[in-house]
Amino acid sequence: MTGKGDLILGIETSCDDTSLALVDEGGHVISEKTINQFDIHSGYGGVYPELASRAHVHALLPAVRSVLDDAQVEGPDLRAIGVTRGPGLIGSLLAGVNFAAGLAAGWNVPIYGVNHLRGHLRSVDLEERRLTYPALVLLVSGGHTFLAYLKEQQSIELLGSTRDDSVGESYDKVARMMDLGFPGGPAVDKLAKTGTPQVRFPRPLIKEGFEFSFSGLKSSVARHLKQNPDENHADVCAAFVEACIEVLMTKSRRALRQYPSKSFAIVGGVAASPQIRQEALQLAQEEGAILCLPPLKWAADNGAMIALAAWDYVRNDWPQTLKAETRIPISQI
Ligand code: KG4
Ligand code: ZN
Repeated sequence: MTGKGDLILGIETSCDDTSLALVDEGGHVISEKTINQFDIHSGYGGVYPELASRAHVHALLPAVRSVLDDAQVEGPDLRAIGVTRGPGLIGSLLAGVNFAAGLAAGWNVPIYGVNHLRGHLRSVDLEERRLTYPALVLLVSGGHTFLAYLKEQQSIELLGSTRDDSVGESYDKVARMMDLGFPGGPAVDKLAKTGTPQVRFPRPLIKEGFEFSFSGLKSSVARHLKQNPDENHADVCAAFVEACIEVLMTKSRRALRQYPSKSFAIVGGVAASPQIRQEALQLAQEEGAILCLPPLKWAADNGAMIALAAWDYVRNDWPQTLKAETRIPISQI
C-alpha cells in the first residue's frame, strides 16, 4: 500500500510519446501509461509537430486517470508532479507543462520542471539502483548524442556531443531511405542483424576526442544506395550499424581510460538496441567498469524517468522551475 506523499507523478510529452508514471522514492514504478503516436506520424516519415501536440492534449487526461486508478491513489495525495520542461518540440512541451500546472494547482501539490536529458540520465536507476560514481554516461537518443562524466550524481561534466545529427536521427533517416517505417531505429537494428557488411562506411571523428558527427555517415549511406540500387538492404544496414557502434564504443573506451569510472551507463532510445547493449558489455568488461543500462522498457522516452528525476528536486530542496523550453544548455541539466 502506498501512503500520502509516497509517490511522484512524472509527465513526459517532449516529442511523440504521452507517457505518465507514478514512481516511489526508491525508483519503483507503481503504475504507468504510455500512448505512442506511431500511427499518426508514420505517413510523414518523422514527427509532425502540430499533430503531436494535439494528440498529447487528447491523451493526457485519460492517461492520468489510468495511472491514479491503477495505483489506487488520489491526486492530492501525491508528493509532487515532475514534468518535462525541455528540450523538445515546443507545442508538445506546452501541452504537458500546462496540463501539469493545472493538476498541481487543483491538487495543491508542488510541481517541478525537469530537463528531459536529466530524465534519461536517471532512467538507469529505475526499479533498482544501478549507477555507482564516478560514472561515464553515453546518451544516445533521437535528439541528442553525448558523453558525460559524472563524478557524483550532481556533478555532470560534458565531454563531447554531436556537431550535427544524433545517432537516433541517423538511424531514422537511414530507415526512411529504405522505407522501413517510423520510428526507424528498431527496424534498422533488426534488419542489420540479418545482414553482413559488404562496404565500409566512414567512422566520423573516430580518431580524436569525444565529439560526434553522424550526418556525413548518413549521407554516405544515401550515396551508396543510389550507386548500388540492387544491394541487399540488410547488408547496408549491417554496415551502417557497424560504423555507428564502432564510433560510439571507441569514444567511450577513450573516455573510460581518461576518466576512471566505476560504472559505464548508456541511456536514451538507442540504448534499446541489443547490438549496442552487447558491445557495451564487452567494452565495460575490458575496461573494468560495471555496465549500467536502463531496463529495456525505460530506454525510450517515459514519464517514470521524469518522476525519478523530480525526486532529486524534492530530496535536495531544489527550486521549482516551470518554463517550457526547446533548448536548454547541457550545462544546466
Ligand atoms: O530517447 P528517445 O525515445 O527520444 C528522444 O529523446 O529523442 O529516442 C528515440 C530514438 C529514435 O531515433 C529511435 O529510432 C531510436 O531511439 N531507437 C533505436 C532503437 N529503439 C529506438 N535505435 C536503434 N535501435 C533500437 N532498437
Ligand atoms: Zn528522449
